[in-house]
Formats: sequence, C-alpha cells, structure tokens
Amino acid sequence: MNASVAGQVRLYDRQPALADFRQTVLDGLSRRPRAIPPKFFYDAEGSRLFDAICECPEYYPTRTEKALLARHAEAIAERVGPACLLIEPGSGSSEKVRLLLDTLRPAAYLPMDISRHYLFETARNLGREYPWLAIHATCIDFTRPISLPFAPPNVRRVAFFPGSSIGNFDPDDARTFLRHLVKTVGPGGGLLIGVDCKKDRRRLETAYNDAAGITARFNLHLLERINAELDGDFDLDGFRHHAFYNAKAGRIEMHLVSRKAQTVHIGETRFDFAAEESIHTENSYKYHVAEFAALAQSAGFILQQVWQDDEGLFSLQYYEVES
Ligand code: AVJ
Repeated sequence: MNASVAGQVRLYDRQPALADFRQTVLDGLSRRPRAIPPKFFYDAEGSRLFDAICECPEYYPTRTEKALLARHAEAIAERVGPACLLIEPGSGSSEKVRLLLDTLRPAAYLPMDISRHYLFETARNLGREYPWLAIHATCIDFTRPISLPFAPPNVRRVAFFPGSSIGNFDPDDARTFLRHLVKTVGPGGGLLIGVDCKKDRRRLETAYNDAAGITARFNLHLLERINAELDGDFDLDGFRHHAFYNAKAGRIEMHLVSRKAQTVHIGETRFDFAAEESIHTENSYKYHVAEFAALAQSAGFILQQVWQDDEGLFSLQYYEVES
C-alpha cells in the first residue's frame, strides 16, 4: 500500500483506475435508460461544486444537519463514547466532523473519499488544526467493500455517514452497504448516519434546482470530466439539468437531457442522442425515520437514538451492532 506521512496524518491511495471510469461511462451510455453513477461527479472541481451546493439557501440538508450536530454534540458523544476509531466514508470537506471532534475525542479519524487531491488537502488541513488527532485518510471508492488502512485491536469502531449520502444507493444496495458497515465496525460498533426525510415535493425540488444554477453546473460537470479525461466531445450547451421528485420511488432523480438530436464521441465510440433523451446521473432517496430504521435494522444495526429538527426535514440516527 502507498502511504505517506505528515505529522499525525497518513495518506493511503487506493483510487479506482481511470479504466474504471471509462468502462462505467461506456457501459452506462450504451444501456437504456442511459445512466452514470453519481460517484463520478467528484473530482477536485466536482467536490468544490458540491460544497457550493451546500452553501445554497435552497439546499437545506447541510445546514439542518450541521445544526443538529452542533446542538447535540454532547448527547452524541455520550452515546458514542470516547476514544473510538471514527470512520467516515465519503468525507468530502470533513466540515461536519469538526462539529464533533472536540467533544467526541476519537482515538483516530479515518476519512475516505474518491476525490483524492481534495481528500488529501482536507486531511492535511485538519491535521494542522487538530494536532492531537491521528488521521488516516484513504482515497477509495466506498461503494465497494471497505478495508481499513489502520485497524488497532480493541478499539471501538464507529462509522460516521452524514449528508444523506446513503440516499445515493437504491434501498437494496443501501442494505448491502449497511451490511458491509456492520462487518467493518464489528460487534459493539456504532453508526451515526444522516438521513434526509420525505417531505413535500416543492421543498425537495427547490433544493435540487437552486436559483444560482450551482446544482446544474455540478450535474453538467460530469460531461466536462468525460471530455477531459476520456477524450469526449460533449457540447455542454447541448444538455440541460433536470431534477424532479419521483414520489412513487421516494427519490429525487437528476438527469442530463439532450436538447436536440446529436452525436457524441468518447474516444472511438459514438453515441447518438435523440432530442429529449436523458442520462440518469443521480438518485437521492428520502426516508421517513421509521422506514430507514427498518432498513438499517434489516442490515444488522439496532437503533439507539434519533435527533431531528423542528420541521422534521432531516434526521440524525445513531445505531449499534450487537456486542
Ligand atoms: C451528497 C448524495 C447527499 O443527494 O443531496 C446534492 C448530492 N446532488 N445536490 C444529495 C447532491 C445534487 C447529495 N448527496
């Protein structure tokens, strides 16, 4: 394994190869309906655009969850207990964990993200601000089973999975992922997870169609990435962002819709788009608290406590595995 050290910060590189991105995109665009998984949004620029989404007034999840973390940090720390191994898949900017670190005092923090440069930069900055904290940052595709780069025996493991990132999985895949987490944290381990709640369509659709157009740029950035990294020739003006709530499936769907009949190339491969044909780029499932608790329970997690804002927009849920 490739590890580099800077003070208390260690970096591990298990980034998926470019071939993985190419094959997934070629397969996804050949399928009907065409679909590319959302993990490929996140290169350095995509991570930056996502952070900008989190600042949008319409995008309530980040603000609401941060308020819950700040308000209940002590209660959370009491539940979780001191000196745990804190594992965060899809850690991004590691902004939220900051709200817990001083109160929680984990033995080590293990951020994991697919966006390598952004992850390593973030980990180094965090290390400077929290010199007492051992940080092991791993560039990884967490949709595959996770193996920990640092696994001291007899240290309680707790996964931190905020932001409703779980919403990107279909419920069946979410259950599989949660089962992997159960194995990762082991008997007596914990899970602190942020889950966005079902609510009225308007509120949801507004959050994914911000007036400043940041979410649209984030979505279209996927095509920019394909152009830059896979020798594509997408015309970004030829596609538009489309996000809507599919109430029957209980999810926000994001698509890139072809504005006209057009041909696109990726390397030597040719793709013909009909007018209004779409590429499905993201699902973001929403759950009632009881609905998600049943899903987590079926994966082997036992619900301990739920924190919610007064409007019931977002939930923070704490689970444990039987010891
Ligand atoms: C990071 C997957 C939780 O689904 O709300 C935000 C990503 N996409 N706006 C979400 C996202 C468009 C976000 N997650």
